[in-house]
Amino acid sequence: MNSSPRQRRKIIGTALPAAVLMLVSSAVAVQSVGPAAAAETTLRAAAAKAGLFFGVAASPNRLYPIVGQEFGQLTPENDMKPDRIATSSGGLQNTGGADTLVNHAQSNNMLVRGHTLVWHSQAGALQGASQATLNTFIGNAINRWGSRIAYWDVVNEALEDNNTGRRRNQWPHTMNRDANGDGDFFDAGDTDVIRDSFIRAKQVVQAGGYTTKLCINDYDVEGLTVQGGTPNRKANALYDIVRNYRQYIDCVGFQAHFNDNPNSIITDDLQANIQRFADLGVEVHLSEVDIDDDLSNNDIGAGQAENYRKVVRACLNVAKCTGITVWGISDSESWRSSERGLLFTGGNGSYQKKAAYHAVLDELNKGRGSVTPTTPPVTTAPPTTPPVDPTTPPPTTAPPTTPPTTGCSATVSLNSWTGGFVATVRVTAGTAPISGWTVRLTLPSGTTVTNTWSANASGTSGTVQFSNVNYNGAVSAGQSTEFGFQGTGTATGLTPVCTAS
Ligand code: XIL
Repeated sequence: MNSSPRQRRKIIGTALPAAVLMLVSSAVAVQSVGPAAAAETTLRAAAAKAGLFFGVAASPNRLYPIVGQEFGQLTPENDMKPDRIATSSGGLQNTGGADTLVNHAQSNNMLVRGHTLVWHSQAGALQGASQATLNTFIGNAINRWGSRIAYWDVVNEALEDNNTGRRRNQWPHTMNRDANGDGDFFDAGDTDVIRDSFIRAKQVVQAGGYTTKLCINDYDVEGLTVQGGTPNRKANALYDIVRNYRQYIDCVGFQAHFNDNPNSIITDDLQANIQRFADLGVEVHLSEVDIDDDLSNNDIGAGQAENYRKVVRACLNVAKCTGITVWGISDSESWRSSERGLLFTGGNGSYQKKAAYHAVLDELNKGRGSVTPTTPPVTTAPPTTPPVDPTTPPPTTAPPTTPPTTGCSATVSLNSWTGGFVATVRVTAGTAPISGWTVRLTLPSGTTVTNTWSANASGTSGTVQFSNVNYNGAVSAGQSTEFGFQGTGTATGLTPVCTAS
């Protein structure tokens, strides 16, 4: 084909059949023309183009070529757990499997998630260890692989089952002490294995100059609600932990083992929950995905491929959802093989793609699309100073100052979808510190609050009131704190009124 560039553009600009277009573009070096770039053919490439990783849990005896071809990230399924590598005094042993996996990842250009340092299960010789011994182990493990581990699950599965919103009451969480008896472990004088393990891990990362990011990981924390619209208290508790210890926590893993347990289903508010964690500034990962295809007892939606599509889309729509990891390659080799929750059938290196695989690839190839923007505050108090015209020279004398605002002000930002929304409310103290606050707002008729976090709510429709909980009432002058609520209906045009105490 010897057409001039101008002719080429013309040919391509007219409506030609797709097959001809492909021929033209493969025969000559045409710059990106046409509506869409060619679709990627592997999960890792499609994900990379969309700006996230797509990974897999792996074991040393299953490092088949597919691992590096399809996946851009690797999590050791069992080989970095304390029962494999920890001694009772926090030293390391039997790191061979873990080393093999890290080396394999490195030579295939894959990120590694270290899994996991502090966990009640598979604790091996560390079972019952003190915080000091856990800290020794945390130091040894992080230092062994340094920046070769992109993400470490520092604390795994800290929260109780059955949507209680409480910490587990078994080791290592039995080391927690609530010094003032206020029901949480967030105060000075409290000991908290979560906080203390993250502080130690952060120290080690900083001292070593590593790029490693530190994650907290859990399951049944994916949606804002669980079955029947009940608030997901476990997710809310995780949110409070991340918010309180944000300075040490870089990332959150939602395990995403979706099945038909009432607390493990895929809810429509998955994206909104990912978004509220992302709004704290952490990366969010769907870290251990498998989706039960048990359609005979199916509470989780419309078929496995569609469910995968929905879950992948929820992540793609949040810019800080930076990775998805499936918990194994094929159904038969999965920890829950009876649920057939993965993307391939087959085994021993010979795998066949399922419908779910094609759905995931297709969704990744669509990219992030119109990533839900972090909505600017919908309503704010009237501006205290008029907008400044950039051409106006700065005044030489101080402009008349608005009287100092004591008390507090509040702004709302919304993340809405058809029929529902999440509102994040920012409470800012005026020129004096406050020790408590109440925000009152009036909801449009037909709108109902279904779930609240980081505040006590009274009322669910009409005029509703939110007041501080024990750990976020005190706000220094000019500083802010946030709470959130979820509702059905619409919530545009809210005017929050803040009163301080
Ligand atoms: C599972 C492994 O897949 C199994 O091989 C092992 O027998 C038990 O642990 N949450 C986690 C993972 O964080 O470590 C678990 O992995 C699955 C649930």
